[in-house]
Amino acid sequence: MNIHIYQSEQDVDQAASEVVIQSINNMPSFKLGLATGQSPVGMYAQLSKAYKEGLVSFDQVTSYNLDEYVGLDRGHPHSFYAFMDQHLFQHVDFRENHIYIPNGCADNLHDECKRYDQLLEREGQLDIQILGIGLNGHIGFNEPGETLHAGTHIVELSEHTRKVNSQYFPSFEQVPTKAVTMGIGSILKAKKIVFIAKGEQKSEVIKKAFTGPINPLCPGSFLQLHPNVEVFLDEDSAKLL
Ligand code: GLP
Repeated sequence: MNIHIYQSEQDVDQAASEVVIQSINNMPSFKLGLATGQSPVGMYAQLSKAYKEGLVSFDQVTSYNLDEYVGLDRGHPHSFYAFMDQHLFQHVDFRENHIYIPNGCADNLHDECKRYDQLLEREGQLDIQILGIGLNGHIGFNEPGETLHAGTHIVELSEHTRKVNSQYFPSFEQVPTKAVTMGIGSILKAKKIVFIAKGEQKSEVIKKAFTGPINPLCPGSFLQLHPNVEVFLDEDSAKLL
């Protein structure tokens, strides 16, 4: 685990985006795992800027999102697809059929989980998986608990997670109670993980995840098992390390 600490959020975004851009440019086709939330937004803006400046193309990049809310389809304004479209997809040149995200409106959600895992298996290892971390230590929507799932599964969102994510919805009541999420096993299969966290509110969970015991009560702690994690933090989020 290589931990890089920067003074400003902008420096975090710039440094993380340079790793992604360099990796994409070094490979003819690229498999990129994407995360939502505020942490990667600034890095996505840097990727969009680099595309506009002709420094990178996403034409040969296939993207796989970590998770999607149950009950929200791609067209829903508060879906994770809409979030990714707003912050990345509409600004760069991904091919529409190269964008994969779990279908939160599938007729049979268990079959959808299997389908997504088969897709990931068929595609092989993702080249880079972008990750953030929830305040309660969740990765994707792998919530803290007695056990963790290896593969893609349906998760009951914790009250805490729904409250934090209600910032993206008109009201707390409209935040879905379930999501489809890649499991810790699928996430850890990526060749490289680019992890981003910013702000003092993340300092406790960063300390727990990166220096605490590996424990399903802090899913982020499982990142300690991965051999190739590049961690990009600002000084505030790194203050307890
Ligand atoms: C959501 C996403 C996670 C993300 C987390 C933290 O729950 N499912 O993938 O890491 O929020 O978001 P933020 O970066 O806004 O703190």
